[in-house]
Amino acid sequence: MFFRNRAFFLIFLLIFYFISYIPYSKPQAASLYPVYAKNGVVSSSDRIASEVGVEILKKGGNAVDAAIAVALALAVTYPTAGNLGGGGFMLIRMADGKTTAIDYRETAPAKASRDMYLDREGKVIPSSSSIGYLAVGIPGTVAGLKLALEKYGTMKWQDLVEPAYRLAKDGFPVSYWLAHTLSTNTDLVDRFPRGVSGPRELLSKFPESKRIFLRDGNYYKVGEILKQPELAQTLERLQKEGPDEFYQGTTAQLIVKDMKKHGGIITLEDLKGYKPVVREALRGDYRGYEIITMPPPSSGGIALIEMLNILEQYDLKSLGFNSSQRNHLIIETMRRAFADRAEFLGDPGFVKVPIKGLISKNYASQISKSINLNKATQSQEIKPGQAFSYESDSTTHFSIVDSMGNAVANTYTLNGSYGSGATVTGAGFLLNNEMDDFTAKIGVPNDYGLIQGDANSITAGKRPLSSMTPTIVLKDGKLFLVIGSPGGPTIINTVLQVILNVIDHNMNVQQAIDAPRFHHQWLPDIVVFEPYGFSLDLVDLLKNKGHIFSSKAGYIGNAQGVMIDPQTNFRLGGSDSRGADARSAGY
Ligand code: GLY
Repeated sequence: MFFRNRAFFLIFLLIFYFISYIPYSKPQAASLYPVYAKNGVVSSSDRIASEVGVEILKKGGNAVDAAIAVALALAVTYPTAGNLGGGGFMLIRMADGKTTAIDYRETAPAKASRDMYLDREGKVIPSSSSIGYLAVGIPGTVAGLKLALEKYGTMKWQDLVEPAYRLAKDGFPVSYWLAHTLSTNTDLVDRFPRGVSGPRELLSKFPESKRIFLRDGNYYKVGEILKQPELAQTLERLQKEGPDEFYQGTTAQLIVKDMKKHGGIITLEDLKGYKPVVREALRGDYRGYEIITMPPPSSGGIALIEMLNILEQYDLKSLGFNSSQRNHLIIETMRRAFADRAEFLGDPGFVKVPIKGLISKNYASQISKSINLNKATQSQEIKPGQAFSYESDSTTHFSIVDSMGNAVANTYTLNGSYGSGATVTGAGFLLNNEMDDFTAKIGVPNDYGLIQGDANSITAGKRPLSSMTPTIVLKDGKLFLVIGSPGGPTIINTVLQVILNVIDHNMNVQQAIDAPRFHHQWLPDIVVFEPYGFSLDLVDLLKNKGHIFSSKAGYIGNAQGVMIDPQTNFRLGGSDSRGADARSAGY
C-alpha cells in the first residue's frame, strides 16, 4: 500500500494541507466569499463608488486618494447618505503605523442655541430638528477631504474630483434599490423615522429635491440614466477653484441664499469659519488585538472599547455564537455602555469627557461585577410606544486598503436618509439634518430614540455627538481589519459584533458582516434583533432572564470591511448583504 511508506504518507499530508488551505475560507456560516485581492480593496455601499476607488488605486493613488474619490462619487451615486452637504470621520492608518483621526463633523451655526427647537411651552416642535433648513449643521465633508489630501494624499484634487464630476454630468444607471426607494416611498427594508413615511414624502416637501430626485412624479425606472447637471456644475467649480470654493465661493453663496429664503440660520461667516479637526485616535485592546477607533465627538469609539473591555472577561468563544448566555452578556454590556454614552459624552471642545476612565480595564471590571449571569438588569423607566428606529441607509461607511498597506476607515453622513430633505437650489446637493443628533430637550428622544444628556446640548460652534465608529484592528502590530457601518446608535453595536465574530468566532470579514445582529441602547429597554436572527427558543431563553423584545424587527447596519489574511497578505473585502448595492472591489 502507498501509505505503508511513512515518507510518502507525510508528503501526502503536506500536499493535502497546502491544497486545502484557502485563507480564511472555511465557512462557519453560509455566506458569499469575500473579494480576494492581492493589491488593494475598496468596500463601499455602492458598487460604482467602489470601482471608482479601485481605478484610483490602479493609477497609483494611495488609500487616502481613493477615499477622497470614493466619498465624492458616493455624493453622486448614493444620494441617501453620500454627500457634499454633510460631515463625518476619517480614520487613517498609514503603512508606517502613523495614525490620524480626521473629524469633519458638522458644527452648530453661530445663531444656534440650546432651546432652538422648543416652542413657547418648552415642548419640542415636531421634526424641527430633523426636516428642513433649520435642521442643517455647517457641512464638513469638503473641508475634511481637503485636509486628508493635504496630510496623506499623493494625487491632484482635480483628478480625484473627476470621476464624481463625470458621474454627475454623464449620469449613471439607476439601480433597483434607488428606483424603488425614490418611487415607492419605502426603502427596501422599511425604516423611516421623522414623522414622514419615506424618502418620497420627505423629498416632495422641497421643490428642488422633488425635481431632481423624484423628477416631479415621473419617477426614475431601473436602468434609466440619472444625470445631475447642477451637481456636476458644483463639482466642476470645486475641481477648478479647489475645495475652499465650497465655503467661500459660488457654492457657499448658493447655500446661504437658500438658508435666507427658507428660514435657515447658516451664514457665509459660518461657512468660512468651518474647520475640520485632527484628533488623536482612541486605542484599546481586546484579547491581544489592538483596537484603533474614533474619539469624541464620536461616542462610538469609547463605547466600543468599553464594551470590548467588559466582554473580554467572559469566554464568548466557548459560549458559542448566538447562544443565549453569550447574547445575554452582550446585551447587558450594551445596556451599560449606552447609559454611559447618554450621561458623559459630547463634543470635547465644550464638555469634559472622562475618556480615560471609560476605556480603562479597571472600569470595565467594576461594571462587569454588576452583570448578573442569569438575570437582565432593568434599564431606567421604559416609555411605552417610544419610537425606536434603527435605520441603515442614513449614513455610509467605506473601508479601503491599498497595495502598500495604508488603510482608511471613513464614515460620513447626512444623518437621516436624504438628510434634511432640502437640496441647495442651483447646487444640486442635499443638506444634512445633523442638528437632530444634539439633545433638543433633555429626556426627549431624538430620531434614533436616543435619550441624551446635557453634555450634548446645543451650543453655537459645537459638534453634535455621533455614533459613527470607523475602526481599525491590528494583530501583532500589523493591519488586520478595517471596519465601520451606518445606522445611528446601532453603528456601535454593529462594529462590536463584527469584531466579536472575527476574533471570538473565527469568521472571515464577509461572514462576520453577514451574521445576524441585535441591538440594545439602554433606553428604551428593548432588545431588537434582525429577521431570522434569533430563534423562538433563543428569545424564550432570553425572556426568561428578563429581557424585553421589540415587536419590530429590521436590518441593522450596512457594514463595509477589509481584512488582511496574515498568512498570504491577501486583502479580503466584505460588503454587507443588507446593502442592496453594496460591493467590494479589488485588484
Ligand atoms: N448621524 C448619525 C451619527 O452620527 O451617529
